[in-house]
Amino acid sequence: MDIINRKYRDLEFYIDEFKQAKPFPHIILDNFLDESFFQNLVVENINLNKKEGSSFNTDIETNKWTSKNVELSENISRIVDTLYTSKFIGELAKLSGIKDLFSTNSGNTALANYHEMYESGFLGTHVDHSSEPDTGLPHVLNIILYLTKNWNVSWGGSTVLANKNGRQIEKTIDFIPNRAVIFLHTPFTFHGVSKIKNNLLKRSTIYVDYYSKNKNPYSHLSLNFKNVWFKHPTTFILPNFKDYFLKKNREYLKKMFKHKIKSILY
Ligand SMILES: [Fe+2]
Repeated sequence: MDIINRKYRDLEFYIDEFKQAKPFPHIILDNFLDESFFQNLVVENINLNKKEGSSFNTDIETNKWTSKNVELSENISRIVDTLYTSKFIGELAKLSGIKDLFSTNSGNTALANYHEMYESGFLGTHVDHSSEPDTGLPHVLNIILYLTKNWNVSWGGSTVLANKNGRQIEKTIDFIPNRAVIFLHTPFTFHGVSKIKNNLLKRSTIYVDYYSKNKNPYSHLSLNFKNVWFKHPTTFILPNFKDYFLKKNREYLKKMFKHKIKSILY
């Protein structure tokens, strides 16, 4: 916890802000990491082995690379390890009111903790995987930490939060270096990344997700949508509905359709 800004070591103060945020519970924590630690982090030089990891380049996941199964640099590991400590998870449990919160053992193996996006990069609105890879238990929270220093807001790369069907962007969270965003993850908390208009710097972020042993983890929250959990893969919403019928988008169509059926049945 010593690399987290002192004012964020007790998240109890942010409970109301988290619960009342729209379109779904989240908080934005600026200067998340201790200032001197962040200043000494040489983000622009993080150079992991790009031959490995996972690259994405489709209509809806453009110019993106993640660190799946790639050894993380020392500083990145230190941040990720801190976000996995029981102390920090305890703070998240207080913040969200979610019971039996836990982190995965699949960090940076089945799931990637460090992400990069480049010029023209874009991530359409989606919900992540619903379940912890080993146990199948509900995925309930995410933290995204913006790393790239000297990022200009006009270059895009913001996190966007959408309405319950993923079709309408309702909040844009600008990419400010050392800003953390913590948000609830449910089958209806659609989010994405706005298009990047910059070829100078890569957009680097840390991503850590959290799970609950409780299969009804949102029952204490009043949400603008069903507060239920069900199993689904990462499911994207294509901006133009007719694109679902292109052959290359068949997988997106299948996943969207299954998600739609479950969202009616549950
Ligand atoms: Fe996501």
